[in-house]
Amino acid sequence: MIVRTPPMGWNTWNTFGENINEALIMETCDAMVEKGLRNAGYQYIVIDDCWSMDERDSEGRLQADPVKFPHGMKYLADYIHSKGMKIGMYSCCGPRTCAGYPGSLDHEFIDAKFFADNEIDYLKYDYCYHPRNLNCSTLYNRMRMALNATGRDIVFSVCNWGDDGTLEWIRAVGGDLYRSTGDIEDSFRSIMDIFNSQINNFALSGPSCFNDMDMLVCGMNNKGNVSAGGCTFEEYKTHFALWCMAQSPLMIGCDVRNVDDDILALLKNPDLIAINQDPGVRPIIPVNMFNEERYPAYAKHLENGEYAFSLTNLEDETREVFLILADMGLPLDGHWGFKLRDCITGEEIDRVAEDIIKAEVKAHSTKVFRGKLVRVR
Ligand code: GAL
Repeated sequence: MIVRTPPMGWNTWNTFGENINEALIMETCDAMVEKGLRNAGYQYIVIDDCWSMDERDSEGRLQADPVKFPHGMKYLADYIHSKGMKIGMYSCCGPRTCAGYPGSLDHEFIDAKFFADNEIDYLKYDYCYHPRNLNCSTLYNRMRMALNATGRDIVFSVCNWGDDGTLEWIRAVGGDLYRSTGDIEDSFRSIMDIFNSQINNFALSGPSCFNDMDMLVCGMNNKGNVSAGGCTFEEYKTHFALWCMAQSPLMIGCDVRNVDDDILALLKNPDLIAINQDPGVRPIIPVNMFNEERYPAYAKHLENGEYAFSLTNLEDETREVFLILADMGLPLDGHWGFKLRDCITGEEIDRVAEDIIKAEVKAHSTKVFRGKLVRVR
């Protein structure tokens, strides 16, 4: 199965860590439907680490923790499927997961069968405790083969944090998305560090090969498993805008049962999601001749011939930010400009942008525009 556009969904880890259970998953699934997130495109409910018993059963199979998941995983899969969504689970290349539960090393085929028998649609596969005598690509290739052998379509979410030359072999081994960095934290610094580390790595992104910059922290407000001070709303906006521009998977990490209205609207923003889901999956082009450190700006070709632009302000005050169109090759002869819409407010901009795109951007915030190249005169 080809995964044509970046997977979208929700994952337990960022907010709940090991505190997961059946009721939480079902309530989250309900909230995703009731709050319009499913219809906005968020499809997968992913149960991360800490779902299993400490030991396998007498036949070597993984077993769900009966206190956390009293009806087992197939029950949850049925519930999630009945709501028109899909279910993801988690395991690890090593003998133990990162949190110390049984990992899949040397049990890949039996575990893949367990996931398929439970009608799981997506597997996140981690890299803790991996053996040093087997290389990373071999371990991921092995699990991909095991998943394929089940005959069930299962999205393969590789989570080796970009280690061991991932870009060289990720397409070969059949990963559909690959974590390119260490874990995100709920802070603006973490968001920008992750994004900046990947600016030159998007060329490989495409169907069934999405650069996964980790789950979203939007709306976590410094509560949960990855808190590190939290972010302002404008910072969460920058996070979401950049993950959309770069076409990273969009896995919500906050508690959607109690999500703030402004965050919910941001996560459902149709223009930003359309950029994230653009079938062309063209990498972003850095477009800024002046002070790109403080005002990073990017352009992107979209599949229908339009363009998307983002302008970020890293200063601590509102600033006018400029995106220099000549920097992406537009001739400065006054004949061409961009007719744009502000993706976040939905406002159509009357004035055609010639030479520069100019926007007032709040501290640590981002504006995103999309539109057509038009003949001016
Ligand atoms: C990390 C992974 C996180 C989360 C965690 C679970 O290695 O990057 O996203 O899955 O393990 O223990």
